[in-house]
Amino acid sequence: MIIEPKTRGFICLTSHPVGCEQNVLSQIDYIKSNPTTNGPKKVLVIGASTGFGLASRITSAYGSNASTIGVFFEKPPTEGRPASPGWYNSAAFETQAHKDGLYAKSINGDAFSNEIKAQTLKLIQDDLGKIDMVIYSLASPVRTHPDTGERFKSVLKPIGETFTNNTVDFHTGVVKEISIEPCSGDDIDNTIAVMGGEDWKMWIDLLKSADVLSEDFKTVAYSYIGPSLTEAVYRKGTIGRAKDHLEATAFEITDSLKDINGKGYVSVNKALVTQASSAIPVIPLYISLLYKVMKEEGIHEGCIEQIERLFNERLYAEDLQLDAEGRIRIDDWEMRDDIQAKVLELWKEATTETLPNIGDLDGYKTDFFNLFGFNVDGVDYDKDVNEMVAIPGLQ
Ligand code: NAD
Ligand code: NA
Repeated sequence: MIIEPKTRGFICLTSHPVGCEQNVLSQIDYIKSNPTTNGPKKVLVIGASTGFGLASRITSAYGSNASTIGVFFEKPPTEGRPASPGWYNSAAFETQAHKDGLYAKSINGDAFSNEIKAQTLKLIQDDLGKIDMVIYSLASPVRTHPDTGERFKSVLKPIGETFTNNTVDFHTGVVKEISIEPCSGDDIDNTIAVMGGEDWKMWIDLLKSADVLSEDFKTVAYSYIGPSLTEAVYRKGTIGRAKDHLEATAFEITDSLKDINGKGYVSVNKALVTQASSAIPVIPLYISLLYKVMKEEGIHEGCIEQIERLFNERLYAEDLQLDAEGRIRIDDWEMRDDIQAKVLELWKEATTETLPNIGDLDGYKTDFFNLFGFNVDGVDYDKDVNEMVAIPGLQ
């Protein structure tokens, strides 16, 4: 079939297998030329199909020849209906990894459930024995608690006061003010239940009790801080409470792994266009200004460059450069004073008329469509493609 982008609000309903494949192959090439010395060898990536998790899987496999198991929640294709992009990404990754002689298998299902955890544990026991790293990179709006069956929904709201600021509809380029009402009821607790650290700890507890974590094991989860501009809705809002919880969980995990000298870390990453971040109000306007400034300074990075730096200059360089709260910071370039000062200046000037010049709206849109395999260089979108692509290592 011929597949075209079909957008609705902040999501794209279609995705292109060849474009997704091309994105994965480009990331593989990047890592092949930036390998990791003494990198991980047997890695589980939870949230492995898109964004930072996919980049972590590629960096592990191609940076240090790691065997990887990927867990994700993606929609398979049906005749005439393309799969979700993470499906095609995983198909492309595993096809290439197998050609290159790398072990790569995957499990598609709800990582929050006991069933998927048990299935993953069995696969580790059968195929890998012990693993030396777990990357935890889930981004989800909902979680069904595995023990109680309660379904929690996360919200992106300020706490205490209404938040009013500008945002952009990146499809139309229209900049306008929005107001977000403060959270109420159980919003904070529900958001912590979905995006906090409880599920991460459940995974590590299970794997530890089954004795499949090797000596010096590491686990890393991803967080975000961002600028004062977005603070009320992000870091000091409901999602920020969940990130606080996730960050505190890293210390609990480290405590629980003392006998194997294991460590739990949080890495604070840069703001990037992903399916998760494009749904957060105000962030798209911030990102389009940030991209402009960082590209001008020659320090713009995508997911793969970020994770390559996390592995090569922090985790496996024995140089974690932890901040006062014990976090790894690869948002260091985003948060540089000169970068933030420039973004703040531009923010004051940003209108529908000025944004095309002062911001990188085109870069935002390109990245957004790239997530779904569209607007990718070198792909012929007029060509008929087979949507029924299989993931070769799917269990
Ligand atoms: P993403 O949407 O690209 O990836 C989410 C992954 O989680 C996908 O692999 C998806 O299949 C998987 N997933 C979602 N629900 C699942 C479920 N129930 N079971 C199994 N798999 C499931 O998101 P991302 O932007 O790469 O975010 C990953 C992490 O990085 C998040 O913790 C996010 O807060 C953090 N982060 C993101 C940014 C950013 O700007 N995008 C910046 C810093 C940190
Ligand atoms: Na991810």
